[in-house]
Amino acid sequence: MKQGAIGIFDSGFGGLSVWRVLREQLPCESIVYLGDGARCPYGSRPADDVRRYAEEAVERLLDEGCKLIVVACNTATAVAISYLRAKYKDVPFVGLEPAVKPAALATRSGVIGVLATERSLSGDHFRRAEATYGSQVRIIKGVGEGFVEAVERNEESLPETERLVRRVVRPMVEAGADKIVLGCTHYPFLRDVIARVAGEGVEIIDSSQAVCRRVASLLDEADARAAEGEVPRYDFLSFADEEYVERLRAKALGCLTLKTK
Ligand code: DGL
Repeated sequence: MKQGAIGIFDSGFGGLSVWRVLREQLPCESIVYLGDGARCPYGSRPADDVRRYAEEAVERLLDEGCKLIVVACNTATAVAISYLRAKYKDVPFVGLEPAVKPAALATRSGVIGVLATERSLSGDHFRRAEATYGSQVRIIKGVGEGFVEAVERNEESLPETERLVRRVVRPMVEAGADKIVLGCTHYPFLRDVIARVAGEGVEIIDSSQAVCRRVASLLDEADARAAEGEVPRYDFLSFADEEYVERLRAKALGCLTLKTK
């Protein structure tokens, strides 16, 4: 693995929920974050389109000299990561998948909820996880309709957003779910409202910590960590306009206080 920054991309702001954990766990690493912004949300778009956007993001991050790329988007991981790995053989990729396994292993009620986009829930990664664990636990799937848009508009605390969350989360809880998996990187921005709507005794699970541990171990294996004491740079790119990049920066600063557990 060469030297350089870690690259990370998403359809928009969502991957910042991974970016902030990366920053915390790997404080000497420079990170280039690309939030598409021009084609967000990806979740209901055709797979071929999302694959093309992911490829464009990777090209852009490689132009920036990135040494490893985090596909901080469950939707793009579902449709594009195999393609990206085959096309860019020398580039290490880390993707995001709904954390079905830890939820299925830890549930006491035998029921788990999985929140994700339509495209992630119909992807091979999720289908495989469902086939593996669906015989041991009941998996209730739900598309977070309007969640991505609410996060992109900074509307996490509006009553209307809570109504959207209630519509999909309450049926999971009423069916007995004691774990709810956040299968989209935008959803951790709604963690407080999801937890409030779900009520006590329901654990909210997201994959950011596990993904960042994977990044750290890949860097260690390749002896490619930034030197101790290195002052990191945090750059932000987008396929949208400069105003979007400014909003991305502001969201990044704001998410440093976001809860991860
Ligand atoms: N944040 C992304 C994900 O993890 C994409 C959401 C979207 O653009 O629909 O799936």
